[in-house]
Amino acid sequence: SVPSLASPDDFLQCLREKIPSELVYTQSSSSFAGVLVSSIRSPRFFTNTTVRPLCVVTPTDASHVQAAVLCGRTQGVRLRVRSGGHDYEGLSYRSARPEVFGVVDLANLRAVSVNQSETTAWVDSGATIGELYYTIAKDNSQLAFPAGLCPTIGVGGHFSGGAIGMMMRKYGLAVDNVLDAKLVNANGDLLDRAGMGEDLFWAIRGGGGGSFGIVLSWKVQLVQVPPTVTMFNIAKTIDQGAADIVTRWQDVGPSLPNDLTIRVIVQGQQALFQALYLGTCSSLVATMGDQFPELTMTSADCQSMTWLQSVAFISFWNRDTPVEALLSRTTSLSTYTKNKSDYVQSAISKGVWKDIFSWFTMNGAGLIILEPHGGFIGSVPTDATPYPHRSMLYNVQYIVFWQGDGGAAANTWLGNFYDFMGQYVSKNPRQAYVNYRDLDIGQNVVVDDVTTFDGGKVWGEQYFASNFQRLASVKAAVDPTNYFRNEQSIPPLAQGR
Ligand code: FDA
Repeated sequence: SVPSLASPDDFLQCLREKIPSELVYTQSSSSFAGVLVSSIRSPRFFTNTTVRPLCVVTPTDASHVQAAVLCGRTQGVRLRVRSGGHDYEGLSYRSARPEVFGVVDLANLRAVSVNQSETTAWVDSGATIGELYYTIAKDNSQLAFPAGLCPTIGVGGHFSGGAIGMMMRKYGLAVDNVLDAKLVNANGDLLDRAGMGEDLFWAIRGGGGGSFGIVLSWKVQLVQVPPTVTMFNIAKTIDQGAADIVTRWQDVGPSLPNDLTIRVIVQGQQALFQALYLGTCSSLVATMGDQFPELTMTSADCQSMTWLQSVAFISFWNRDTPVEALLSRTTSLSTYTKNKSDYVQSAISKGVWKDIFSWFTMNGAGLIILEPHGGFIGSVPTDATPYPHRSMLYNVQYIVFWQGDGGAAANTWLGNFYDFMGQYVSKNPRQAYVNYRDLDIGQNVVVDDVTTFDGGKVWGEQYFASNFQRLASVKAAVDPTNYFRNEQSIPPLAQGR
């Protein structure tokens, strides 16, 4: 329900007094829908019945963000923050329940500033990871950063959830490489790492977006890559032994040398093995012959290029796409999707893999992506950051696509397949990745205008396992009135728990 003290008109008036009016788009503005939709990825959350914000504020300065928080606090209107808008449940710009709220859209705050001698960078939350990668590597092909694959993802939400990608076996998650951050808290204060303290700095590095404040920028440690890296894409059909090879991959993928990441996309009756190797073709062929001969990889499979080109190649599936395409923020609203996730702790048997492949004869538009852990990511202690899935073999992401009214069939298939997989994946709790947000695993319960710890535990322990309670303690310390909240924000731990 609408918070009883909310004063939307006074909130908008307050914004107008403190923020240049051209940066505040209210529902009556002719540009409102265009600004709102600008980074929406899924047409599921841009319909006539979607609960939309009162306004979208597009700050060009930290002081505008602070002013928006202060106006929201005084007038009882919550804020949701959007960086790249890629949240799988749209929580950065829509509410699943009736609610009066404003959106702070950080797309204008997107500077990336690289310090070559320190090999660090400050990156604003509104930058995309494509912009980050391009700016780091355009003048220095041996500098890089480990984060996700899709170049239009926003840094703000992505880092808030940890950020897994093709170099995590070598360098860990994005948040394993964050050195400092600037955040506006629920009192409107602008704090750096020293100002926020180590507990809050711990929580924002993977505890999920939208809970602790608005992170404006991040200082990151850049990493070294060779001038030339090598990639391959090798597809194996079920008739070519895909079930055997995926079964074997479960042991090999997480234990290969850290320089080599092989992820797997299973769709239809085929498994596609996609690799990034931080080294040369000849050394990759030797490693593959030694450790994973079942894939029958040869030098003809090698695609050698710079690391930045490899980022573009894996994003656009085309070697001819120029690296400048990584700077495009254009997204399309044509396809509906629903995503879920799991972690696998012990390898699934070959017989079960045959059953898994048979699920893909029922739905041509479903797929799973397997992202191997092990290596550096597996060597980091479980409580070093909120991301608790360090000792898992690999992450499974389920994706189903549909157009028009195909949603019911697609979602039924996905739900049934996810139920089937329950026997073979991590248990007690069944783990899930917060950046692959899924409201089906649980939503906050609000009692006396505060989200409850016990309600949050249902989904929170799946995302954060034993780190959930510490996140809830940090929340109680930094935002005890629960100002920053959504359907899956961290609830404040009641005193005495
Ligand atoms: P968005 O702006 O929607 O924010 C997501 C959440 O974080 C919301 O709750 C929001 O309120 C909050 N938030 C946003 N900015 C914040 C800020 N500055 N301070 C505090 N909270 C903030 N993940 C991955 O790890 N590896 C991958 O390879 C991919 N690949 C991928 C591809 C595609 C096509 C999609 C749609 C998604 C992914 N993801 C992913 C998942 C991605 O990491 C996840 O959706 C991120 O939260 C997106 O961050 P955005 O800033 O774009 O989202």
